[in-house]
Amino acid sequence: MAKNFSPIVLDSIEPEYFPAVDLYVKQGVNYTLYRNGETDLSESGLERLRQSGVEFVYVDSCNSDEVLLYVESNLKQICGNEKISRTSKNLVLSHIMMSDIGEVFKNPARPGICAKCRSFLDQHEFFIDDRLDLLELLSKFSHYEVYLFKHSAQVAILAMYMHRKLFGMTPEELVPIGVGAMLHDIGMLDVSYDIHEKRDTLTPQEYLRVRHHPRSGHKMLHQIGLSDPVSLSMVLDHHERYNGTGYPRQLYENEIPKSAQIGAICDTYCALTMDRPYRPASPPVEAVRIMRGEKKLYHPGYFEAFADIIGDGD
Ligand SMILES: [Fe+2]
Ligand SMILES: [Fe+2]
Repeated sequence: MAKNFSPIVLDSIEPEYFPAVDLYVKQGVNYTLYRNGETDLSESGLERLRQSGVEFVYVDSCNSDEVLLYVESNLKQICGNEKISRTSKNLVLSHIMMSDIGEVFKNPARPGICAKCRSFLDQHEFFIDDRLDLLELLSKFSHYEVYLFKHSAQVAILAMYMHRKLFGMTPEELVPIGVGAMLHDIGMLDVSYDIHEKRDTLTPQEYLRVRHHPRSGHKMLHQIGLSDPVSLSMVLDHHERYNGTGYPRQLYENEIPKSAQIGAICDTYCALTMDRPYRPASPPVEAVRIMRGEKKLYHPGYFEAFADIIGDGD
């Protein structure tokens, strides 16, 4: 059976403590064994990889839980290590964030599951000082595999950054924004994988199913005890549009809660900049250009602030 591989940020590897698992490097579309799990890792070997431009190494997905545990237990040291770049630290945090999102998506009915997302955001702040840090981080997500998890993490990071820039929100105030964005598409669990990954145009029935995901996600999270109104509105209203053409409630202009308006901009941008089965990813400037062509869909002030952050060549 073909192996699946999961990326690990090279800088997160401490040779002495890293689990004894096989490590691979990616060359084009191929994965080549770099070290057999039974042989020792050396700092000089890792440094040679770094010097040759390698940022990620890969493990067989059957080892990814063990490696995740290693990353989680070393998170404090990684984040406090001055030799590790901000981008590498952000990627390590993104890795944990995606795994927390994955856990909720895999078992949303588990009691207290949303609390894991909240406690991650309560305890950790991304190392993003300016738009360049943000853009660099967002550009690295293509290394990861599961679309919904990486999309949800990207939307969360961008939405928190925009709220911080636009409203000067504190880290505590950003937590419900991040939780809502991490889980905004959880209603897609009710949409089959075949529909989600379909290359052709959706049938009217399939389209209806997809359009139901904000309501089903909102209901699901409400039932399992997510009560923060900001988080819930980001789930329910991220497909509402400023000119009233969105769904599910066809809200108009400022009837749409402001965090959901910003969430909508981040959601569209992050979807456009990621490869999908039915179209390739758009580069950032092209994605902003596409959105500008439909700018009536978004709050004008929030859209211009967003375009300034991404940089649209204007
Ligand atoms: Fe959505
Ligand atoms: Fe989305």
